[in-house]
Amino acid sequence: MGWPLMGEMFDFLWCFKFKRRPDDFIAKRKLRYGDTGIYRTHLFGYPAIVSCSPESNKQILGSKTEDGSFGPGWPSTELMGNSSIVAIDGLWHKKIRRHLIEAFNSPRALDSHLTSAQPIFIQALEDWASKRKIVAYDETKAMTFRNICEVLVSFKSKELLDTMESMYRGLMGGLRSMRIKIPGTAYHHALKCRKKLSNILLKEVRDRKEHGIQKHDFLQILIDSVDENGNKLNEVEVMENIVSLILGGYESTSNVMTWGLFYLAKYPEILEKLKEETRQIQKQKSKDEILTAQDIKSMKYASMVAEELIRLANVSPFIFRTVARDDVVINGYKLPRNWRVLVWIRSMHLDPRYFSDPLTFNPDRWDNFRPKAGTYSVFGAGLRYCPGNNFARVQVMMFLYHACLKYRWKLLNPDAGTAFQPHPRPRDGAEMIFERAS
Ligand code: HEM
Repeated sequence: MGWPLMGEMFDFLWCFKFKRRPDDFIAKRKLRYGDTGIYRTHLFGYPAIVSCSPESNKQILGSKTEDGSFGPGWPSTELMGNSSIVAIDGLWHKKIRRHLIEAFNSPRALDSHLTSAQPIFIQALEDWASKRKIVAYDETKAMTFRNICEVLVSFKSKELLDTMESMYRGLMGGLRSMRIKIPGTAYHHALKCRKKLSNILLKEVRDRKEHGIQKHDFLQILIDSVDENGNKLNEVEVMENIVSLILGGYESTSNVMTWGLFYLAKYPEILEKLKEETRQIQKQKSKDEILTAQDIKSMKYASMVAEELIRLANVSPFIFRTVARDDVVINGYKLPRNWRVLVWIRSMHLDPRYFSDPLTFNPDRWDNFRPKAGTYSVFGAGLRYCPGNNFARVQVMMFLYHACLKYRWKLLNPDAGTAFQPHPRPRDGAEMIFERAS
């Protein structure tokens, strides 16, 4: 369990931050205690259980909310909001989730995503080409933030978006820090950022309701959404869930896009195959016509490329839960109540038993391939399965389509290595020369 208070944080940071070999954290425990798939630890200030076998991961993530074995385990619900989907449990979680899923699955949502995202991507790519030398990590982040704010809340003003992005950065800093509410600490700053974001979004919700304003975006779908009993979400529920959606959807997707540019630069034969599919689709369209939902369905190779990028990016190395009952037994181990559980999904995605040659970027592995249950949980599983999974996949595909269509790029430091904190990314942010192809 490690040192008092710090527990095994030193070892965690050593593997993730300094040694930059995050998989050693699990490998060491396997070597010491055998390949049991369940280990005791003390991380992020709490005693915790690490789960890293297909069977235990499946049981924990697949556990029904109603049976009450596992609750949400996010480090701070105060920052996310008490009615945020990531903070709540049981019937309330079910209710909010139903509204979100309905919004994600509505045909309105995909159409409005396709029509509002593509002009943003096209403009961003053109700007990158005029700069020529870019850091892909920074550029994709700015682009996806603009995109998610446009699709979710129709915000366009550059000034407002810049303010919000800096608030989000502050909020994110707090999620990854110790809960110390003293002025000057990251957590205290995050609480202030969260308050400002809430005010901006709450004002938007109230303005729309008071003035009967209707817009084509996700916020509108959530405001209008009615469950089977005729109930709507209240203003705070709408606002807090929009805060969480932006948080959950922006850096995760931009990271995958950065890895997309990185791997495609390193694997020219895969880039060529993707370009070939892009050309075939473009041939059937008039000049500058954007992708439609039908085109997305036909982009088989791009969807395999996106899946492989999401697997290798491992945006969330683990998923948090809390043991919520006294009698929870997994793989023969009794789990102590109130302990955190870290479902270490990363170690499954890079295990040669489940993905051959796992560190190789190989989109073709997804051709008619279904991973064994419990071995592929990039978007989680069960009742908390990421509701934005298709939204993310489509975004990556759209982005790659427009990048392949007119541009070429070259990494400046192809062997820069990977940084793993706070999320895995090329260590130099994927610095590159980005230009028009002809
Ligand atoms: C490549 C991109 C993404 C990855 C890898 C990813 C991954 C995940 C993971 C691992 C979870 C935890 C699931 C669990 O607790 O079992 C999750 C939950 C969630 N994600 Fe995503 N996500 C991505 C994109 C998005 C997007 C684009 C959105 C929204 C616009 C989004 C919204 C959410 C929300 C709201 C939850 C909480 C669901 C719940 O607790 O019921 N995510 N995501």
